[in-house]
Amino acid sequence: MSGAKVLIVMGSDSDFEQLQPSWKILDELEIGYQVRVASAHRTPDVVHDLASNAQRRGFSVVLAAAGGAAHLAGVIAALTTLPVVAMPVANGAFAGVDALLSSVQMPAGVPLASVGVDGARNAGLYAAAILATHDAAVRQNLIAYRRRLHAKVIAADAAVQSKFEQKTH
Ligand code: RP5
Repeated sequence: MSGAKVLIVMGSDSDFEQLQPSWKILDELEIGYQVRVASAHRTPDVVHDLASNAQRRGFSVVLAAAGGAAHLAGVIAALTTLPVVAMPVANGAFAGVDALLSSVQMPAGVPLASVGVDGARNAGLYAAAILATHDAAVRQNLIAYRRRLHAKVIAADAAVQSKFEQKTH
């Protein structure tokens, strides 16, 4: 797949570590992405530029991460018609529940999808699923990934079964 198709925006570089699974899975699925730090509260001008020009710059989906009273994903969703997936970051007094509720309780009119707290890997996979609706190469990579998941569970089941084989008395 050519060019960066997924725009990943985090509200602070303190979110960086928790978000790594989002771009690691995109790497695994050979999907291009760009990662930026921009804050809805501290650099609203940068967020405005990123969101309002995302589609023109070739992105098909935006992943947006923030902790606390998380506004970033909702603000981005307000400025683009691209699908936006929130990644609530686990930090602060409420360990991410505040960010989760800020993400999933968007008022009707400007929808926002959200993964769970610390759900960056799923966000990457969801972006892949969106891209797979119109990109055959991504679809094939996603299918291959699901097969690997399947094989892992089958192997784990076999390993567990063999441990208990001698307990059939
Ligand atoms: C949010 O505030 C950021 O996404 C981060 O999760 C949190 C704290 O930011 P820092 O004070 O660490 O920069 O906007």
